[in-house]
Amino acid sequence: MTERETPLWSGRFTRPPAPEAAELGRSLSFDVRLAPYDVEAGVAHVRALEDAGLLTAAEAGQIEKALREVGDQISAGTFAFDPADEDVHSAIERGVIRRLGDVGAKLHAGRSRNDLVMTDLRLWLLDAEDRIREVIERCALALLGHSRDHAETVMPGTTHARFAQPVTLGHHLLAHAWALVRDLDRFGGWRRRASVSPLGAGAMATSTLRLDHEATARRLGFEARFENSIDAVSDRDVVQEFLACASICATHLSRLAADVARFSDESLDWVAIDEAFATGSSMMPHKRNPDVAELARAKAGRVLGDLVAVSTVLHGLPLGYHRDLQEDKEAVFDAADTLEAAGAALAGCVATLTFHPNAMRRSAEADGLYATDIAEALVTSGVPFREAHERVGKLVASLEADERSLRDLSAEEWTAFGVPNGAELLDAARSVRARAAPGGPSPDSVRQQIEAIERALGARGLKK
Ligand code: ARG
Repeated sequence: MTERETPLWSGRFTRPPAPEAAELGRSLSFDVRLAPYDVEAGVAHVRALEDAGLLTAAEAGQIEKALREVGDQISAGTFAFDPADEDVHSAIERGVIRRLGDVGAKLHAGRSRNDLVMTDLRLWLLDAEDRIREVIERCALALLGHSRDHAETVMPGTTHARFAQPVTLGHHLLAHAWALVRDLDRFGGWRRRASVSPLGAGAMATSTLRLDHEATARRLGFEARFENSIDAVSDRDVVQEFLACASICATHLSRLAADVARFSDESLDWVAIDEAFATGSSMMPHKRNPDVAELARAKAGRVLGDLVAVSTVLHGLPLGYHRDLQEDKEAVFDAADTLEAAGAALAGCVATLTFHPNAMRRSAEADGLYATDIAEALVTSGVPFREAHERVGKLVASLEADERSLRDLSAEEWTAFGVPNGAELLDAARSVRARAAPGGPSPDSVRQQIEAIERALGARGLKK
């Protein structure tokens, strides 16, 4: 084998891999984004080797310098990759050896790409989660802003996308915000479990070199070191759980986006999407389409696909490292990138929405919205709910047959029906105020919810 074609593991081989085998195994094109983390992990490992007396301070310093130079070259795009480099870990180690010869060849003692790749990936994921959290918070803050402005704005609440009962716009928007608060909390729980260093687990059974894994974990900013070396290199639950959190969050963004698209539909016209977050049609000159909302809506499928891909790779896989596990990275990179991009665009789209309270108020005049209030008025005067439901249902049906509505009922008819103040009940502002219980749609409840969400976000150190 020529020097250039030789993989780092070539000692017991006589021939290089077939080109198509090398091609299938090569992950450099996507795992190169782990390079900065691979350098940090390398530096922490070098210090562990030094502490164990396996490197002199001078050697450790040389290797650290070489690692950082290689990292800088990779990020500057000037690093000379070798066709034999399977992955970013091989490439970086080879770069160090190329610079330092025998001293560089000491770097990989007591570590394996199996523990290294998980160390890099955990570090990458923890940073990605910071970015994702930031965009989720931006979406939540945009919703809070509108909710503050529209604590009293009435609109029809819907079930089955049909008008159901009056609510406040603030209440509706906060339903989305609460989901995002839970997403942040879910990612927070993931973070505690993710912040564990696998470095030193080696290929699967640690090493005989007496390295201090705890010090390595601390150097890398992890909360803890691995508890079991086989677990440290075998499991990918950290990836799977990240994808599950991402998938749930993408689903929430998708439903928020669906509401933005629906509310801006001209049949409702409850909201206008800012030009910066709308698109035109190539053929129809008048169009202003909600493409950002539609794409944010659609991306949830892709993120779920990433979770399914990784879960499928993992299920049935015996313990220990298998090359199957290399398949985790493209999925998790894709999910994180997708969620970050969709979240950022949707946050901007939501922040710049202009709601149309008058259109919402007009929609909230639909008298069917008050049928439940009327049934509850009968309940208050002692009528069993089932009977009240039946009586109001019949009333609505007979009015419909006569092409009349609840609004056409005279005072006498209301009295005869058993709800003397019936006409007053057909009022959205009154209806939402009457639902005064915490967690309900009343303006007071909306304001309480805003404070509670602000506290929840504040507890996460969010600046308003
Ligand atoms: N590139 C591999 C991965 O991403 C790590 C290399 C481990 N390779 C091996 N043959 N043990 O999972």
